[in-house]
Amino acid sequence: MHVLIINGSPRVKKFSNTDKIIARFAEGFCENGNTVDVFEVSDRKQWDDIRAAFAVNKDIIIALPLYVECIPGLLLEFLETVDPKNDGTKLSFILQSGFAEGAQLRCGEAYLEKLAGYLGCEYGGTLVKGDNFSIRLTESEDQDRQTVPYRQMGVVFAGKGSFDDEECRKFTGPEEFPLMVRLLIGFVFRTLAKKNFTKASQAWGCDKPLDYRPYGQEN
Ligand SMILES: Cc1cc2nc3c(=O)[nH]c(=O)nc-3n(C[C@H](O)[C@H](O)[C@H](O)COP(=O)(O)O)c2cc1C
Repeated sequence: MHVLIINGSPRVKKFSNTDKIIARFAEGFCENGNTVDVFEVSDRKQWDDIRAAFAVNKDIIIALPLYVECIPGLLLEFLETVDPKNDGTKLSFILQSGFAEGAQLRCGEAYLEKLAGYLGCEYGGTLVKGDNFSIRLTESEDQDRQTVPYRQMGVVFAGKGSFDDEECRKFTGPEEFPLMVRLLIGFVFRTLAKKNFTKASQAWGCDKPLDYRPYGQEN
């Protein structure tokens, strides 16, 4: 089995968490002689090659991060340039993010199912998981702790040919944190994190409060 994997992150390969996830996933997927080709939309010089590969491959995975609760604009810009297929191609997704709760990725997941249809492909499911903020900031064992579980997902995909699998669904982890944890995180964001974000924004020359709404009705 051969799979085309497209990294949909706007971050360049070297700094992309998605890149490290794809590498682990491919390890598991290729264990029994399967093969992958990997491209990055962050490198516009590859776009012609990705379009050509998209046209001929019948099994495609787009791996992407959630950016501001959405699909990265650069990926959508690229996809605007490919021709819809309608030839039985299966399109699956690896959707990953920084925050850990599965619930915040569900809207993106629902859109990806539609996106497969818009591109004339059959939907092969979406592997959903957060808690990946720090992959690129860590090394050796710390990075392995976050990326190695994706290897097993590669094994499952190789066996099943899709992410429509109980093990993949469980991989997401908790849909929501318990109430106490959510309250604590909310408190930290309103206090310590707000203070640090304010400090950072001032260092970058911002002289307005973080919740400034220049187009809000009250202004
Ligand atoms: C501009 C920006 C927006 C982001 N928005 C979200 C978000 O809405 N929810 C979330 O869980 N993570 C968010 N993240 C975190 C990324 O999804 C996460 O770090 C991901 O692993 C990045 O993958 P990449 O390095 O391949 O781009 C955001 C990151 C950036 C830089």
